[in-house]
Amino acid sequence: MSAPYGPLTACAEATANIAMVKYWGKRDSILNLPVADSVALCLDSFPTRVLVTQAETAQDEVIWSGRPVQPPQLGRFGRILALLRERSGLRCTTRTEVRPQLPDAVGLAGSSAAFAAFALAASAAFRVEMSERELSALARLGSGSASRSVPGGFARWHRGQQADGSDSFSERFASALHWPELRLLAVIVSRQPKPVSSTVGMIRTSRTSALFPLFADQCSRLAPEAQAAIEGRDFDRLARIAELSAQTLHGLCLTASPPILYVRQRTIELLELACDLKRSVPLFFTLDAGPNPIFVTLAPHDLSVSREILQRFPDVEILSCGVGGGVRVADPGPIRSPS
Ligand code: PMV
Repeated sequence: MSAPYGPLTACAEATANIAMVKYWGKRDSILNLPVADSVALCLDSFPTRVLVTQAETAQDEVIWSGRPVQPPQLGRFGRILALLRERSGLRCTTRTEVRPQLPDAVGLAGSSAAFAAFALAASAAFRVEMSERELSALARLGSGSASRSVPGGFARWHRGQQADGSDSFSERFASALHWPELRLLAVIVSRQPKPVSSTVGMIRTSRTSALFPLFADQCSRLAPEAQAAIEGRDFDRLARIAELSAQTLHGLCLTASPPILYVRQRTIELLELACDLKRSVPLFFTLDAGPNPIFVTLAPHDLSVSREILQRFPDVEILSCGVGGGVRVADPGPIRSPS
């Protein structure tokens, strides 16, 4: 995969992915190696575009939604650039612009899109040819979940066994076309940044929650089951797996010391609504490390589900997506500003 631009300029875009079997907990926090496999759906909408160019500055610079990224967040980009400098032999510094279509705080796994796009744009800028597997492992250095946004579609992130992370990457086991009726409705109840970052939350839960070993075992068991449910387009089976994984993640967070509470009052009310609605329509929920639940349903029920949500909670915003994605080279031209 490489880009057709001048020396050290390249642009790429990718979309976020939503895990059905959650990644939570690292066996190596520098290389972002997970304790277990995870399975996710990559979104077809709201791509994040990343432009990498050669810089005149002494240090690498990253501008995210118009604001400079500061350490320690900058280090997540630095790990990827260090590896590319080593592979290419080029020593120049870079300026990176990250342009999400959605504001970062909506809880739609924004870092997964950004680091997948950054891995492709930066490797193309440094003229380093990479297979999809290598690119997925490279994106993982910035954000673990970004490894799943590289292949897109329905992706499984393999935990891997090697200490250097060379076998910890994601691969697509079904294309987006495999299940076109699947619809995701992200219900935005809050745009506030989460109180505890995923990285801090993972460390705290792994050190202090007695449930952590159970969670890791559960992920290892659920990942192949989720893959089989998706391959067989078995909605009810996927629903049971995805809800169990999300509930266990939040159970872990609640039992950490001090506890981590990502959910809000409105989140609970929406989960109650999901439980009501699923008596009459195919529906399940999932919830990442934030307060904004994602309802998963099958077309054409997405329209009636959206109506029901808005009728009960007129103040929420709903973002509707299908499955798609996969990182790609993009035109660096202007895009719609974040709303
Ligand atoms: O990739 P990170 O470090 O932002 O972690 C993401 C973790 C969850 O979104 C909560 C779960 C997942 O598997 O995407």
